[in-house]
Amino acid sequence: MNAIVTAVLDVLGSEAGAAHYGEGVSQREHALQAAWLAEQAGAPAVLIAAALLHDIGHLLHGLPEDIAAHGIDGRHEDVGAAWLERHFLPAAVAPVRLHVAAKRYLVAVEPGYATTLSPASTRSLALQGGAMDAEECLAFRALPGAADAVALRRWDDAAKRVGLATPPLSRWRPHLCAALRTP
Ligand SMILES: [Fe+2]
Repeated sequence: MNAIVTAVLDVLGSEAGAAHYGEGVSQREHALQAAWLAEQAGAPAVLIAAALLHDIGHLLHGLPEDIAAHGIDGRHEDVGAAWLERHFLPAAVAPVRLHVAAKRYLVAVEPGYATTLSPASTRSLALQGGAMDAEECLAFRALPGAADAVALRRWDDAAKRVGLATPPLSRWRPHLCAALRTP
């Protein structure tokens, strides 16, 4: 068994994974729902792994649970990506790094998208810079992994259903292994 994959699953399964960050579901439930939505959409294993891991930065930086309510942007996408890139393929890491940018992009280009965001996600949007301007949208679209980040963003937004039964964490071990730099 791979030690990094075990460590990641342990973090999600730990007390830290039970934190809610202002949403109706815990970090663990949110990650499980995102991965499941990705699988149902036919995503490749590496992108399913990214969906499971996209908020791992929240569990690593050690800041308080209600960080957004205090007006602090913890840059969890960068924290998570910086940790993940030591072990995981760029195709898994890029959508994690860009999933907040993808929210700012979708707010800019998709009428009505902003109204679909959860209250916590709407609050953090302002701290994250709000909607992208036209130049930022162009630059975003040109980034490797941007399309995957947009797809991940939609699973992220939908992965907040209270009480939804999902497959367990162990279901995603093969997907995480497939996303490793060194199998
Ligand atoms: Fe998320």
